[in-house]
Amino acid sequence: MSGRIMRQGRSYIGVLAPFSLLATSLLLTLTASYKPVIVVHGLFDSPSDFRLLLQFINETHPGTNVTVVDLFDRTESLKPLWIQVEGFRQAIYPIMQNAADGVHLVCYSQGGLICRALLSTMPDHNVDTFISLSSPQMGQYGDTKYLKWLFPQHMKSNLYRVCYTHVGQDFSICNYWNDPHHRDLYLNNSNFLALLNDERLHPNATAWKENLLRIRKLILIGGPDDGVIMPWESSLFAFYDDNETVREMKYQPVYQLDTFGLKTLDARGDIALYVVPGISHTDWHSNRTVYEACIAKWLT
Ligand SMILES: *[C@@H]1O[C@H](CO)[C@@H](O)[C@H](O)[C@H]1NC(C)=O
Ligand SMILES: *[C@@H]1O[C@H](CO)[C@@H](O)[C@H](O)[C@H]1NC(C)=O
Ligand SMILES: *[C@@H]1O[C@H](CO)[C@@H](O)[C@H](O)[C@H]1NC(C)=O
Ligand SMILES: *[C@@H]1O[C@H](CO)[C@@H](O)[C@H](O)[C@H]1NC(C)=O
Ligand SMILES: *[C@@H]1O[C@H](CO)[C@@H](O)[C@H](O)[C@H]1NC(C)=O
Ligand SMILES: *[C@@H]1O[C@H](CO)[C@@H](O)[C@H](O)[C@H]1NC(C)=O
Repeated sequence: MSGRIMRQGRSYIGVLAPFSLLATSLLLTLTASYKPVIVVHGLFDSPSDFRLLLQFINETHPGTNVTVVDLFDRTESLKPLWIQVEGFRQAIYPIMQNAADGVHLVCYSQGGLICRALLSTMPDHNVDTFISLSSPQMGQYGDTKYLKWLFPQHMKSNLYRVCYTHVGQDFSICNYWNDPHHRDLYLNNSNFLALLNDERLHPNATAWKENLLRIRKLILIGGPDDGVIMPWESSLFAFYDDNETVREMKYQPVYQLDTFGLKTLDARGDIALYVVPGISHTDWHSNRTVYEACIAKWLT
């Protein structure tokens, strides 16, 4: 019985061989139209956290080559961000070189800052769309369970004492700690965000801005129920003023002075903002509504 089915199966394949060849080349043509997607994870994550995202992409964009970079997982993600940027660069560069039409980046949480640093420091990147998924793009200033775990005896109001030191800057989270009450210390001591934002002057700022502006689209996704990114609007390039009032992106000095290209991108009409309520921080990459409403359409 099973032998006959197998035989039938074989002859079926035999008859259809020319067609399946055609079908395969059609499939290749179709899949070739989706650019590869590179996913960069956040603090304390690892690629296994992105199982559902891979499933969503496979369903809506079958054949897309998705790489979740398996580097700096779990507690390794506390390493200084410039070291992580270098590691991710080496992993991502070959994927870019294999992608004649460019790639898309989906970067979650802390990963969004790693991606922005990659984009600013890679003169020959070919990123089409940069999707920043609940990422503290303007920094973090808030008590979270991660901070409590790392620095149990510190509150947000005194964490600057640790973060804005040489020792503090050896932790990723301090690289983007942005205490609105200690601007001078931030500007003098932040080795990462203050440079990336070109808030502390550095010789490569012009080149970094040109590099970032090579992207076609910037997609910013965040929401009020995030619970970890503080203020949550940091995911949309908004941040606290010195009175802890959140100021929109357009009122940020880095926007108004266009220090790293944000205003240019906006003037080009190439920034899309999504605010999604009801999503807690760890659900952003696993919620189908978020994927369909904010991510799927950009993965062309
Ligand atoms: C994509 O979906 C197809 C059909 O459901 C499945 O056979 C395949 O294993 C999936 N591929 C990946 C990489 O998840
Ligand atoms: C996906 O991309 C990677 C990196 O460019 C490449 O090594 C791999 O062969 C690709 N996989 C498929 C199925 O095309
Ligand atoms: C920041 O650095 C400048 C120049 O080195 C120095 O004059 C200033 O006192 C520093 N500010 C703080 C708060 O450390
Ligand atoms: C500026 O770029 C040069 C050449 O790429 C590099 O050697 C140098 O480290 C960069 N400086 C900074 C502050 O990134
Ligand atoms: C600071 O915030 C308080 C309380 O929200 C408000 O009354 C005050 O006007 C604010 N000051 C400035 C300078 O924005
Ligand atoms: C995904 O998010 C939407 C919008 O907040 C919510 O209504 C839905 O219940 C979430 N889905 C899951 C599976 O959590």
